[in-house]
Amino acid sequence: MADDLLRYRPQFPILERTTYLISNSLGAMPQGVYDAMKRYADIWATRGVRAWEERWWMLAAQIGDEIGVLMNAPAGSVSVHQNVTTCQAVVASCFDFSGKRNKVVYSDMNFPSVMYFWEAQQSHGARVHMVKTDDGITVPLDRLLEAIDEQTLLVPVSHVIFRSSYIQDAKAIIEKAHKVGARVVLDTFQSLGTVPVDVEELNVDFVCGGVLKWLCGGPGVGYLYVRPDLGKTLQPKFTGWFAHQNSFGFEVGPTRYADPPYRFMNGTSHVPALEAARPGLKIIAEVGIGRIREKSKRQTSQLIAMAEQRGWRVNSPRNPELRGGTVSIDMPDAEQVCRELLNRDILVDYRPKAGVRMAPHFYTKDEELTTAIAAVEEILKERAVAVK
Ligand SMILES: Cc1ncc(COP(=O)(O)O)c(C=O)c1O
Repeated sequence: MADDLLRYRPQFPILERTTYLISNSLGAMPQGVYDAMKRYADIWATRGVRAWEERWWMLAAQIGDEIGVLMNAPAGSVSVHQNVTTCQAVVASCFDFSGKRNKVVYSDMNFPSVMYFWEAQQSHGARVHMVKTDDGITVPLDRLLEAIDEQTLLVPVSHVIFRSSYIQDAKAIIEKAHKVGARVVLDTFQSLGTVPVDVEELNVDFVCGGVLKWLCGGPGVGYLYVRPDLGKTLQPKFTGWFAHQNSFGFEVGPTRYADPPYRFMNGTSHVPALEAARPGLKIIAEVGIGRIREKSKRQTSQLIAMAEQRGWRVNSPRNPELRGGTVSIDMPDAEQVCRELLNRDILVDYRPKAGVRMAPHFYTKDEELTTAIAAVEEILKERAVAVK
């Protein structure tokens, strides 16, 4: 059957030169980024400081809205930041950890940067409760739900686990959190763009992530959705003049918070990264996450079948409904195999306790999966001969 999504391939120059299976780390760059960057430079060169008023000041909210559409978030509910770690800091700064409700619950399968941030908040009174994985692939839902109690303030968890691609039951986590008065900060870095996310359906409090992986938006843009009812009342202490009602009044004294999304921003926004993000967001919106997800389930199943036929350990869920866009394959000498694959222009990565991560996206041809698996087989054979 013809794969209609392959018609987007000419829009991504690197696909001509490499076997690109690394969209879980860095999505392929759309051709349109060249034009976007040229336009950015032209505007700066010709409009100078007027660019702020004419385009740059509003860009942060516009890009937030373009990301928001992909997760069914209403206009004005998504602010943009440099990365997910900064988003954690913005959220943390809305709360007080000196009271009895100061527990922060997550699992050891969270992305480490997020954990480093929350570990460090212990000096501000946060009490971290970390639930451990049993199998290195999943998060024990029962234990996570049990840990969320009346003293829990925040639950910062990944929707899709970066190491294994396991999809957590976000709905169950959010329901339990709300039952006891806690708030969930859902990290959708590894889901948005490949697994459907619907903030209204989930009734989630906060969603964070970035555009550089599945959204093909390049480094430098993180996003933070705040549920509109919360957005009206929260007062981030990590704040700045972009969050002021009257930024250009340069008032002295305490801030007067603007409405979201600017309420959750702080200093001058990262204009070049915002401009670079746009072409990728446009393409993802056009392709549609439903179609991306269907293809992803099929191709990741194919990869798993090929890896299992060869007796390699697969560190991702077998059930496609519980699996995001990545397959982690821990073949022998996985780290060296990864290096050799990169030398051969087969782009993947290696993560400890995961193995080689392969991540097809909507632009991936089925043949590229066979090419990658055949290359691994060949590398392992060559290594075996070299050892003898
Ligand atoms: C689930 C998840 N969260 C966060 C990050 C990155 O965090 P930051 O944007 O702070 O670099 C990654 C990967 O880079 C990730 O996979």
